[in-house]
Amino acid sequence: MAGTGVFKACLDGDVYKYYADGDWKMSSSGKTVSVTNPTTGKPIYKVTACTQDEINKVFQSAKAAQKLWAKTPLYKRAEMLHKVSVIMKEHKSPLADCLVKEVAKPAKDAVTEVVRSGDLIDYTAEEGIRIMSEGKFLVSDPFPGNERNKLCLSSKVPLGVILAIPPFNYPINLSVSKIGPALITGNSVVIKPPTQGAVSTIHMMHCFHLAGFPKGLISCVTIKVSELGDFLTTHPAVNCISFTGGCDTGIAISKKANMIPLQMELGGKDTMLVLDDADVESAAVNIMKGGFAFSGQRCTAVKVVLAMESIADALVSKVNAKVAKLSVGPPENDCDIVPVVSESSANFIEGLVMDAKQKGAKLCQEWKREGNLIWPLLIDHVKPDMRIAWEEPFGPVIPVLRIKTAEEGINHCNSSRYGLQGCVFTKDVNKAMLVSDAMETGTVQINAAPARGPDHFPFQGIRDSGIGSQGVTNSINMMTKIKTTVINLPQPSYTMA
Ligand code: G3H
Repeated sequence: MAGTGVFKACLDGDVYKYYADGDWKMSSSGKTVSVTNPTTGKPIYKVTACTQDEINKVFQSAKAAQKLWAKTPLYKRAEMLHKVSVIMKEHKSPLADCLVKEVAKPAKDAVTEVVRSGDLIDYTAEEGIRIMSEGKFLVSDPFPGNERNKLCLSSKVPLGVILAIPPFNYPINLSVSKIGPALITGNSVVIKPPTQGAVSTIHMMHCFHLAGFPKGLISCVTIKVSELGDFLTTHPAVNCISFTGGCDTGIAISKKANMIPLQMELGGKDTMLVLDDADVESAAVNIMKGGFAFSGQRCTAVKVVLAMESIADALVSKVNAKVAKLSVGPPENDCDIVPVVSESSANFIEGLVMDAKQKGAKLCQEWKREGNLIWPLLIDHVKPDMRIAWEEPFGPVIPVLRIKTAEEGINHCNSSRYGLQGCVFTKDVNKAMLVSDAMETGTVQINAAPARGPDHFPFQGIRDSGIGSQGVTNSINMMTKIKTTVINLPQPSYTMA
């Protein structure tokens, strides 16, 4: 259960503390931020709201701790990370319990998120050992006009303090995907949890605490974002921001950020292009899995289906038959469709659906909503003048546009403000490769729905979907800079005849 056992240390009465200098602390602000259970709509947890002064102290400690951590041998850094992985897996039940309550993640998926996160940490430790142990050696004379008197040694060094801001839908997995690479490369980390998902992040942070990392190296600050969001993201001590979340927030952060590296995973309007020679059953299965899992609240969820007219009827009818079998209800019961994260999110989804309905789209199922719970819906005959053709519902609602040619589908995909992932269903590998080449998205999946994992694969968006690339290796590289030393030897005293 959340807040019990080892996790009691994170609590003061019914308020969750912030983590600084190796200890859980209450803010002197006396203010709290409330976390709502999406299923009941009622407040479930409270977290302390830090002050500017407390944030300043956190960054001060993070800077000091980082200097020592960067000198800690790599194998020891890796050992510590492996330890966290073991601790997280040992506590997978209470960690998952919190995900169920805070973000309404179906119970089985919640456990999967914790285990996947442990595995990610282990892989990161191993990959970090390899990447960080490599450097480059150059000599000067291959470059015209130079003698062989300069020897150049380059290696990767940490950036400093990484500010990690994970999203509500993967508060544990997308925290460790930032913390793991940051720590193995010798950085320190300050994490700002999402409001929904704050306690899951706090519990995850406690696993790092139990592993015994040096004081100040990792911190977790909970804040009132409206008051201190900008203060945090523009803080002069921050050397890199790794953010996953909404497009508008990400873009606002990147515009205000100091001149520092940014890793931003923002929204997506992930396109599924189903060509006339596709395996229609497989496409339907992937629409279900890729579009409705976690009620569509994944940046990589299938968010628009572009089906060739010749197969569209068959595809829609197969999907409808499968939608009828989905269970709808609370995450504790492991239902397929669970409540979306907030009332405002449910209202936004409803707005998109009503707009499409008014403009003549066909709702394949009856529109049904109770609180934050929205019944799964396929919307057929969507046209480009409808909002849902372009906007990201982040809910269990999938629009289908019927297209005449693959080119029409590619144009639609490439006209989006987003460019995260796309996928194409066809039995012709040549067509698949041509489509993949033409689709302007960070990743194109052939004959499978979009997905980020496995977590060591590169993962990146273009246009408003993000900056920089993720995946274990890319994050490790992104959280380092190149340091070069040049050994200048005396000029050669002789020349070759
Ligand atoms: O919501 C954004 C996540 O990065 C998606 O990850 O493809 O593993 O669900 P996923």
